[in-house]
Amino acid sequence: MKLKIEKLVSDGFGLAHAPDGRVIFIKKTSPGDVVNAEIYKKQKDFAFAKVEKIISPSCDRILPKCQYFEPCGGCDYQMLSSQNQLKYKNEIVAEILHRAKVDAKPEKIIAGSNQELGYRNSIRFIFEIDDKNHIHLGRHNYLDERKFVIVDKCLLASEKVNEIAQAIRDTINESDGEKSSFWQLKIRQGFATNEIMVEIITSTENLPVKKELIDELKKFPEIKSIYQTIASGKSLKHLQRRLLFGSSLIHEKIGGFIFQISPESFFQTNSLGVKTLYDKIKEFADIKFGDEVVDLFCGTGSIGIYLSTLAKKVVGVEIVPEAIRDARDNARLNKISNCEFIIRDSTKWIKQNINKKIDKIIVDPPRAGLSKDLIFDLCLLNFDLIVYVSCNPATFARDLKIFESRGVVATNIQPIDMFPQTHHIEIVSKLTKIK
Ligand SMILES: C[S@@+](CC[C@H](N)C(=O)[O-])C[C@H]1O[C@@H](n2cnc3c(N)ncnc32)[C@H](O)[C@@H]1O
Repeated sequence: MKLKIEKLVSDGFGLAHAPDGRVIFIKKTSPGDVVNAEIYKKQKDFAFAKVEKIISPSCDRILPKCQYFEPCGGCDYQMLSSQNQLKYKNEIVAEILHRAKVDAKPEKIIAGSNQELGYRNSIRFIFEIDDKNHIHLGRHNYLDERKFVIVDKCLLASEKVNEIAQAIRDTINESDGEKSSFWQLKIRQGFATNEIMVEIITSTENLPVKKELIDELKKFPEIKSIYQTIASGKSLKHLQRRLLFGSSLIHEKIGGFIFQISPESFFQTNSLGVKTLYDKIKEFADIKFGDEVVDLFCGTGSIGIYLSTLAKKVVGVEIVPEAIRDARDNARLNKISNCEFIIRDSTKWIKQNINKKIDKIIVDPPRAGLSKDLIFDLCLLNFDLIVYVSCNPATFARDLKIFESRGVVATNIQPIDMFPQTHHIEIVSKLTKIK
């Protein structure tokens, strides 16, 4: 089927209309492309298709820098210049808010940093064994999670991280033994501290060539921590970690603060862009001397700590106990005594503290956004402002609409490009009560 791509929409899809009027979503396309496409999934009113051949490319197209871009599930925008990526991200956010009938208008997107490649501080490779018992590093195919694509260098990770991943692959390949327990490899890096953590994820307790791997990795002075993580049955839900070498955690610096990162806890993946993000949160939060601040979904406490200087008190709420352990350590590490971190579901914590006066509330939920229940309770609280940090414009727009229905509106919406080459968009927004 011949299609012309009209625009980009969320989740990395280009949108076209079939001759019968049906909407077709196609990944890795650019507005203006004319393509031959094949439908691989049909719904009632729309369908998903894949590009068979580009008949006439959009004038926006550039040559992707990564040789694996076409099949790899990691990036979706490498065929666009960084300027056009930003232009289309602006259009996507504006359209999502418009469709959700949110009154507020977004600002133009700003870049998290000027580094468009090599910015990720955390990267995951999959291991795959070929029929010659050779192990390869790779990723999932962009259309099919079950299909493996060889990617022995990811341009979103640093040169050093790629070098380490290749050294691990080569060390495993020096042995003729059984390799089937190797499943995934995760490498995290503190950019400002140059500390690296390696997590070799196996599907059983067996870690072949363990000594050789540790000896090889010890040659990299940046590697401060090596784990074997056992994911029985290839499930990431029940992980058992064994520290094989070095320290149990690594560190990263943002602004004047230092943060520890443990393998269990979430940390913003773009270390170079995170200062831009946190500075925008700080600007919107406008902390005044003596403010009571609550940081919901606080992870390792980094936003709360970043805002703690003028506040009277910051309370961080997070559901993952290991993240709260890191948050408490982070406060100690930065000699901050006005932050308290609590292991609790954010919705439950707010319900229990509904009568409290909280001046500033920060919410930074996972992609699913906020529950209706939490939004309703937040709207009942006596607060000055809410800063909503979102990594998913669709759930953000849905939530804003619910806030609006309860008299809480966005006065500022600032998209930030924390993830160049991908469709992901971060948003920081300031919400206040209508007087
Ligand atoms: C997008 S991350 C934000 C982390 C942190 N604000 C930061 O900047 O690093 C979302 C966090 O919400 C936590 N989380 C998920 N569901 C939660 C819940 N119901 N209550 C509290 N925290 C939750 C996750 O464990 C994760 O750490």
